[in-house]
Amino acid sequence: MRTMTCIEDLRQQARRKVPRAFFDYAEAGSYSQETLRANRQDLERIKLRQRVLVDVSQRDLTTTIIGEKAGLPLALAPIGLCGMQHGDGEILACRAAQAAGIPFTLSTMSICSIEDVAAAVGKPFWFQLYVMRDRGFIKALIERAAAARCSALVLTVDLQVLGQRHCDVRNGMTVPPEIKLANLIDIATKPAWALSILKGKRKTFGNLAGHVGGMENVNSLAQWTASQFDPTLNWKDVEWVKSLWPGKLILKGILDVEDARTAAKTGAAALIVSNHGGRQLDGAPSSISALPKIVEAVGSEIEVMFDGGIRTGQDVLRALALGARSCMIGRSYIYGLGAGGEAGVAKAIEFLGKELEVSMALTGVRSVKDIDRRVIADI
Ligand code: FNR
Repeated sequence: MRTMTCIEDLRQQARRKVPRAFFDYAEAGSYSQETLRANRQDLERIKLRQRVLVDVSQRDLTTTIIGEKAGLPLALAPIGLCGMQHGDGEILACRAAQAAGIPFTLSTMSICSIEDVAAAVGKPFWFQLYVMRDRGFIKALIERAAAARCSALVLTVDLQVLGQRHCDVRNGMTVPPEIKLANLIDIATKPAWALSILKGKRKTFGNLAGHVGGMENVNSLAQWTASQFDPTLNWKDVEWVKSLWPGKLILKGILDVEDARTAAKTGAAALIVSNHGGRQLDGAPSSISALPKIVEAVGSEIEVMFDGGIRTGQDVLRALALGARSCMIGRSYIYGLGAGGEAGVAKAIEFLGKELEVSMALTGVRSVKDIDRRVIADI
């Protein structure tokens, strides 16, 4: 295997190892992918301020995220079907996150269930909630997350309906994978992936199977989502979820200042500035362009986290400079998972951490807590 040095290397390796339908699923944005591209372009546009002759021999990357100690200002974002990038993917990613001392978020739409992950890892993780029409099931799901000692509930608020990803329709993405000739040929060229999935605990949505109808074979994720997800979701439901959840609540998917103001009044511990990795409203602004306004409006009232387009440590530095307290990463770790399981996720976290550390030094900053707008160049 060739030496890997950055997230892009992991991406190339994942492309070789993961069947097309699942690689495309991870990679894609919705519709014309304008917002997906804007997430990256707007980050790259922000130039960093090169500073010299500052003693940066001691660097400190540690911080706190909603009061929890973290080795880096990073958390692993919730990723649906994570366990289809690699067998038992959620467990492996959670282990890599915990080894690095950062939070892992398990998606409602995961392959391994809450209980599978809780049984396999040593420390608490976060659970991400999608609210579905069957509120009895949602109440039970929240109770399961509490019973598994999840330390935060991440309520995703930007998927009341599903933004279409054209490739998922074209690839006929199904769960479990559909045995069509084209898929078989593709899978036959990816034997390590096939073996890992065969050996994995589950082949379908672990949190939902046996609890929600129509789970036996999800032929169209879009159709299934439309029938199950609750488009009536509104701010009153945030109160309802909060009343059921004994721990800290995080609201994920805030992109607008007005929504951020309302979010800050809910008593949630944090909000995540996010456009779902460019997978929902195509044409929405990039996450990084929305961040400064939201920090200015509510940063003193609620912890502001950020995600969307983070592929380097320099990107983390940019987001922190614009006021995010920490960043979630999605695709960056999913590429690592597809490329090399737990070791691949560990590499993704390590790459971002090292790049952040070097970039802090080159901008003359010693500690994550000292990163602010002064690291951004005036151009
Ligand atoms: C996601 N995202 C997501 N978010 C969520 O709240 N629940 C979920 O189940 C998923 N599933 C999911 C699958 C895949 C393949 C991707 C790429 C993304 C969004 C995710 O948590 C995060 O907001 C974005 O991934 C951040 O953008 P980057 O880091 O991928 O650019």
